[in-house]
Amino acid sequence: MCGIIGYVGKASAAPILIEGLRRLEYRGYDSSGIAILNGSNTIELRKRSGRLDNLKDLLLENPATGSCGISHTRWATHGEPSDENAHPHSDQSGRLAVVHNGVIENYKILKDRLTEEGHEFVSQTDSEVLAHLIGKCYDSSTVSDSKDRLVSAVREALPQVSGTYGIAVLHADIPEFLVGARLGSPLVLGLGRGENFLASDVGAIVTHTKDAVYLQDRDLVCLTPDDFNIEKIDGADSTYEVSTVDYTPEQAEKGEYPHFMLKEIFEQPTSIGNAFRGRLVDDQASAILGGLGLTPRELRDIDRIVLCGCGTASHAAMAGEYIIESLARIPTEVEIASEFRYRNPPLDKNTLVFVISQSGETIDTLAAMREGQRKGHRVLGIVNSVGSTIARESDGGSYLHSGPEIGVAATKSFTSQVTVLALLGLLLGRMKHLSVEYGQNVLKELRELPAKVEQVLLQSERIRQIAIKYNDVPAMLFLGRQFHYATALEGALKMKEISYIFASGHAAAELKHGIIALVSEEVPSVFIMPKDSVYEKNVSTLEEVKARKGPTIAITTEGNTELEELADEVIYIPPVMECLSPILAAIPLQLLSYHFSVERGCDVDKPRNLAKSVTVE
Ligand code: AGP
Ligand code: GLU
Repeated sequence: MCGIIGYVGKASAAPILIEGLRRLEYRGYDSSGIAILNGSNTIELRKRSGRLDNLKDLLLENPATGSCGISHTRWATHGEPSDENAHPHSDQSGRLAVVHNGVIENYKILKDRLTEEGHEFVSQTDSEVLAHLIGKCYDSSTVSDSKDRLVSAVREALPQVSGTYGIAVLHADIPEFLVGARLGSPLVLGLGRGENFLASDVGAIVTHTKDAVYLQDRDLVCLTPDDFNIEKIDGADSTYEVSTVDYTPEQAEKGEYPHFMLKEIFEQPTSIGNAFRGRLVDDQASAILGGLGLTPRELRDIDRIVLCGCGTASHAAMAGEYIIESLARIPTEVEIASEFRYRNPPLDKNTLVFVISQSGETIDTLAAMREGQRKGHRVLGIVNSVGSTIARESDGGSYLHSGPEIGVAATKSFTSQVTVLALLGLLLGRMKHLSVEYGQNVLKELRELPAKVEQVLLQSERIRQIAIKYNDVPAMLFLGRQFHYATALEGALKMKEISYIFASGHAAAELKHGIIALVSEEVPSVFIMPKDSVYEKNVSTLEEVKARKGPTIAITTEGNTELEELADEVIYIPPVMECLSPILAAIPLQLLSYHFSVERGCDVDKPRNLAKSVTVE
């Protein structure tokens, strides 16, 4: 993970880099640092563990001036979060600085070798090895032009490392010049007037420019204020295109909301609408997902679907499994991306593989996609982040069009992923057995979703009261059946990651097979139990919990008042067709975890130990 931003131009670099880091903090926030080349060709290095404000304070005490610099907000993989381990890292000469996103797997071997040669390391990170290696190649180079020399040093060093990297490099000998390269970790070039940027994500540079080049793996880029050059690390030509960033800086701001997560929860009437807008075909009672790039014949031949993702995306996949199987009757399986990659599952030619990812950068999901492609499969993406690596490397797919999701806890991306999977189920179902009438009903229900989401959001205050009442519990259970098995898993993940309450999600009937041992007066159970085909079964499970004095919080359908008697707390969602109900039921669970997190004084948008985009294995 981690966020990188580099600047080369005429303006003072420090404020631009700090502002960029602020926008990248979702990628990592355990320490940060900045290296700026000052007027007398010396690198000003400032690093601090903890939040970005610590670095800001340091810069107030000890400013760094200059118009060319690199910076980093870290999510530690190797070495604890500390001042020394924060990036940028310097080489042996102290005249070269590097920021790195990724993991250098052979760092130990390289570090030992360099240490034998007399290099002294000051951090426990893998990344510092990169700085020393590039510095060593630079110092021993015979190339006379210093820019070419730095480029050739990077070219010589990178093939010696195995692992993943997105890097930015600065050398004190070379004013107004940055070098970047990537393999497996994202890097974007931002093109300004008389200034250029290098960043992990366009969000960091969107206030300065909307013209961006998404670098590809093995690209090497050189930047000056007025120019840039992209080639492959091995010197081969690279093709690239300049894209226009599709969101405004305001979209990446909290606005009147206290947290990004709350803003993103409240955006769902719009984001769900964006996920189906232009994709509903009334006269065919079906959906269109043009980006799949499959002919009707190819679609009809699909006899198995594999949905692959991590975390929340895997829960969306699980909801998708139930939806696609019920609408299209095509066997569908969910694969956790990291498992899929290594377990070599059989895929036959009529199996369609989807990778699902908000960021489009999750390394496990990316690796799963590449593994599928290596086997000759067409792998499609369901992705939010436009221009991300998965979006570019997949063989087609669908964007979510949710807009930037900054809160570390995924919210609107989940409901949009499930919406797109419902469109897929409808499309495939209508090619098979699904009637026109049923298809029309799905379209009608999809269109009604945004208004229904508004109704759910009105209960935020009621849900806050529940959070206040139970906020000191040690653990929680989330229980649902059928379509809401996935919702239960997602509700538990949200609660764990932002409120630090141990929570586990289960298929409700599994309770009696062991989990019931956890039920007690201190451990509330959240039942996701709309008035659907398994409602009565859920009532029995709820009774079992009550019989053991477990507090119960039920999410059910409006008008179903009987639960007022049975459950301790009831939250209502509007009536909705069963296969779309995970979209609505997820929202009270998001609000529940949000309010628990606030009541417990946790950092909602930046929970401990986490980062939004997991670009390390
Ligand atoms: C969600 O709240 C989590 N932060 C996490 O599980 C996330 O969904 C997962 O890392 C996958 O991310 P992606 O959708 O960007 O691939
Ligand atoms: N491996 C590097 C470190 O631990 C970079 C991690 C990251 O990409 O955040 O510092």
